[in-house]
Amino acid sequence: MSSNQSSESEYHVPVLLPEVLHFMAPEPGKVLVDGTLGGGGHTEAMLKAGASVIGIDQDDQALSFARQRLQDFSDHFTALKGNFSTMPQLLAEAGHQQVDGILVDIGVSSWQLDEADRGFSFAKDGPLDMRMNRSTGETAADLVNTASAEDLKKIFFEYGEERASNKIVRRIVERRSQKPFETTLDLADCIASVVPRGGRSHPATRVFQALRIAVNDELGVLRELLEKSADMLKPGGRLAVITFHSLEDRIVKQFFKNASQSHIDRKEWPEPRPNPDYHYKLLTRRPVVAGEDELKLNRRSRSAKLRVVEKIPSPQA
Ligand SMILES: C[S@@+](CC[C@H](N)C(=O)[O-])C[C@H]1O[C@@H](n2cnc3c(N)ncnc32)[C@H](O)[C@@H]1O
Repeated sequence: MSSNQSSESEYHVPVLLPEVLHFMAPEPGKVLVDGTLGGGGHTEAMLKAGASVIGIDQDDQALSFARQRLQDFSDHFTALKGNFSTMPQLLAEAGHQQVDGILVDIGVSSWQLDEADRGFSFAKDGPLDMRMNRSTGETAADLVNTASAEDLKKIFFEYGEERASNKIVRRIVERRSQKPFETTLDLADCIASVVPRGGRSHPATRVFQALRIAVNDELGVLRELLEKSADMLKPGGRLAVITFHSLEDRIVKQFFKNASQSHIDRKEWPEPRPNPDYHYKLLTRRPVVAGEDELKLNRRSRSAKLRVVEKIPSPQA
């Protein structure tokens, strides 16, 4: 464990903790899943309330930190390595088919962002990696050095909403033909050479966000989890999702809206028809956001949005 993993609060401060506890309602006898275990902050609070928790993370370092932090709860806590998109298989491994609640707090932890050697930060030099699971998949360097110009433009525009995508990609392609990119600062400096610094954020902010989303297929795995979620919950079980940017929140909002409508109506239909994807009751009409006290204490909470649904009993039940 590295020196900056020594304290719980330094690793990652859990966002919207009281709100998560309100909706997950942990208590003895309940089995809850934390699909993004990270530093184990949310999980610890749920364990302290008496619930059993299955914690999942795809990052070995997060798992080893959380296992150590939560060792006193070993009777009620299981940590599993994997992607939350494969949650049904992971739950089956842990001997469960349906649980009382699923929480995901998406994205990377403060610790992952701050550790230079994970390659997420344009502020510190490190290998251009960005994989949350370092045992598999393409790194950000692989992507930047080998993807076609068209694909890179699409990634930067769609996932980073970067308006200067064309200019940045032209410069990247020119540069990589002389020498492949290897480090975070190498790429950040290249971007800064064509995008003027404006406002408070670094010119590479949007491209780094886009690469992180692409490298970890963050939107794809979120969609997969949402699609599979109802099968993994008992009736009355809850799904709580915390997102940090509008691309993710839009996916969650749309999915929850669709899955909580009993009927669908279309202009061309004489009457509304039953919705085959109706599984949930919406518990949050608007996203839950951080209050003033949390905003003062944790900058990261500024962009956090929590949405929650509850599984309805199946019609044949
Ligand atoms: C924002 S942190 C979670 C922090 C945690 N709630 C806490 O209180 O400490 C996100 C964590 O989820 C993990 N993660 C993100 N996406 C994942 C996925 N698709 N499958 C498994 N783990 C994921 C990351 O590796 C990271 O450790």
